[in-house]
Amino acid sequence: MTGLHPALADPSLNSMNFLNEIAQHYPDAISFAAGRPYEEFFDVAQLAGYLDRFTAHLRDDLGYDQQRVTRTLFQYGRTKGIIHHLVARNLAVDEQITVDPESIVVTVGCQEAMFLVLRALRADDRDVLLAVSPTYVGLTGAARLVDLPVLPVATGPDGVDLADLVAQIHRARAAGLRPRACYVMPDFANPSGLSLDLAARRRLLDVAAAEDLLLLEDNPYGLFPADGAVRVPTLKALDERAQVVYLGSFAKTALPGARVGYLVADQRVTGPGGTVSLFADELAKIKSMVTVNTSAIAQAVVGGRLLAHGCSLLAANQRERAAYARNLRLLDAGLAARFPRFADGRRVIDWNVPAGGFFMVVTVPFPVDDVLLERSARRYGVLWTPMHHFYDGSTPVDALRLSISAVTADQIDAGLDRLAALIRDALERPPAARRPGSA
Ligand SMILES: Cc1ncc(COP(=O)(O)O)c(C=O)c1O
Repeated sequence: MTGLHPALADPSLNSMNFLNEIAQHYPDAISFAAGRPYEEFFDVAQLAGYLDRFTAHLRDDLGYDQQRVTRTLFQYGRTKGIIHHLVARNLAVDEQITVDPESIVVTVGCQEAMFLVLRALRADDRDVLLAVSPTYVGLTGAARLVDLPVLPVATGPDGVDLADLVAQIHRARAAGLRPRACYVMPDFANPSGLSLDLAARRRLLDVAAAEDLLLLEDNPYGLFPADGAVRVPTLKALDERAQVVYLGSFAKTALPGARVGYLVADQRVTGPGGTVSLFADELAKIKSMVTVNTSAIAQAVVGGRLLAHGCSLLAANQRERAAYARNLRLLDAGLAARFPRFADGRRVIDWNVPAGGFFMVVTVPFPVDDVLLERSARRYGVLWTPMHHFYDGSTPVDALRLSISAVTADQIDAGLDRLAALIRDALERPPAARRPGSA
């Protein structure tokens, strides 16, 4: 190990494997752990239909002859992708984001998009990334792989503590460091479930402008508001100064099996001799050396799904949107029924009620570690994610993340019974036996 890249010894690179392994080890456990999309609406027969739809689009809308259609699907392809124009249309229809399709790079999942951007931003060892904490472990792991330290920014009542963001930037600069960007999830964040309201988004953009800081906006869950919640414009839709690189994923809105995501990078980059290029084109150079191009077949399936719904993923996901909103409601009601308030209004455990997305955080009065998760899976048959996986460092965090995305209504009910049993048993254990690591 000492001769390998130090990131390989970093806990963030073990997190996903560890959590997947637990899930595989206890296949009968009810899972509030994975942020996988709902499976009930998956339909193998649709895949061929989407491929046909995209093929017809190449032929009828773009005027390709049969040879060019065949080559587009079978051959190595354009580095920046072949569905960029459909992604641009989708962003216009669903998000009121207007972008030149040339500023889009279609990637192998959003994960690759994050990696490309971080690789480009890490120029030398003064560079650091800011990220609202707790944050998505895939971001932390990608940053480790390119030797980019991540400085945590506190979560505030508005989603991001802007005073802390400014303080972190100034502190880093005073120490000779260069904060290159701040990674944010303004909509139903993973794992916190928090969102920024419109005023907070505008203030964040103003801070970024004043501090000359790029914002990396990751938005895999924005399509899924809770019942009665109103969708708020993305940072990119409000971005008038090209301060935002937008990261997109089709994993939750189409299918993760396709591994298709994208980035929008419409910034102008000045090179040697004053040459100006699009940031997207610079990122595509990196992609050409990492994955060459995103699978044409996978793009065609996603492209076909977009075309089948007028490029609106809101329209394509009506059933999914209803299922996720229902599940959030059931989870909140199910927790409230099992953990009623005391006379003074407090509860023995606490949880946030997010305005949408897949995730809810439950705070408990005992440490939550991987050993407790293993015990939960083995003895109680229920899986969830310890929140410490989303924080930098080894400080214990007394909270767990519940995901509502891959469970049915019946599973929520049964899973909450199991979780409640675990929590009640943990509360009854003497405090000394509740220390992290004591199984
Ligand atoms: C916040 C966030 N960003 C990015 C991703 C990765 O997306 P993809 O599957 O498209 O790589 C996920 C996946 O769960 C996520 O939660």
